[in-house]
Amino acid sequence: MLGKVAVVGAGNVGATAAQRLAEKSLARTVVMIDVVEGVPQGKALDQWQSGPIEGFDTRIVGTNGYDEAAGAELFLVTAGIARKPGMSRDDLVKTNAGIVRSVAKEIARVAPASIIIVVSNPLDVMCYVAMKASGFPRERVIGMAGVLDTARYRMFLAEAMAVSVDDIQAMVLGGHGDTMVPLVSYTTVSGIPVSQLLARDRLDAILDRTRNGGAEIVSYLKTGSAYYAPSAAAVQMVEAIALDKRRILPCSAWLQGEFGLRDVFCGVPCKLGRTGLERIVEIELTDAERAELAQSAEAVRATQAVVDAG
Ligand code: LAC
Repeated sequence: MLGKVAVVGAGNVGATAAQRLAEKSLARTVVMIDVVEGVPQGKALDQWQSGPIEGFDTRIVGTNGYDEAAGAELFLVTAGIARKPGMSRDDLVKTNAGIVRSVAKEIARVAPASIIIVVSNPLDVMCYVAMKASGFPRERVIGMAGVLDTARYRMFLAEAMAVSVDDIQAMVLGGHGDTMVPLVSYTTVSGIPVSQLLARDRLDAILDRTRNGGAEIVSYLKTGSAYYAPSAAAVQMVEAIALDKRRILPCSAWLQGEFGLRDVFCGVPCKLGRTGLERIVEIELTDAERAELAQSAEAVRATQAVVDAG
């Protein structure tokens, strides 16, 4: 269990993540920070009061500033505006870069040794903003996207094959956008390659639906984007770090030559433990997958340049 985890943003993703962190007893204290007066305080108190029923002792505290988060070991950054129908994640870049930049500076001020998990969109570019503004090394700035995209992919596969989702191993790499790269060559059902169990056209339809998984939810909700699965994905990463599990999960990481890519955040298999990103696992890819990954990284790089241009 960690001493203190801070969640920045008390919107749907942040508040749901705070509740999940407490229910899993991953921290002694969860601090929820938001600029809107009263909202983090009210939600946190309400959540804390679920403790006697759910059986957790985690304190949940809401605040509008960062002093309460001093010394936190880990920050989950969910702050920013969400997509509306018809918007791409990249449409959020200017507004959310400003928000994430100021958040990362505050984090570096109150908790210079902490680990940052970024959830705000456009995800990979917001990781870049957070790393630059905090001055943290790449081991301590990691983005949540691949766990969510992979969860969607696994859910669709489980539904299509009528098998337990527990038995589906898969990984979605690349940037968190339309160019994400679901790895069919690593998709198995209890070790059986998915190609032996599902016709190619049905698999292709699932790959498409996975790439558009976020937009599908936005089109239903209209006033916001997904939050149950995104918060679950972020908390799975926190759990890997808090419990030093050394899980290998697809996360957005700052690449320094891995997969032939450099100076760009992109989703790759990462080993997560108590120190954060412990290792990027360079797996073998088919030529087509490698090309798709490079293309996805270039899409991220183009948006990183927009942020650099100010
Ligand atoms: C999604 C948003 C949160 O994929 O990026 O649902």
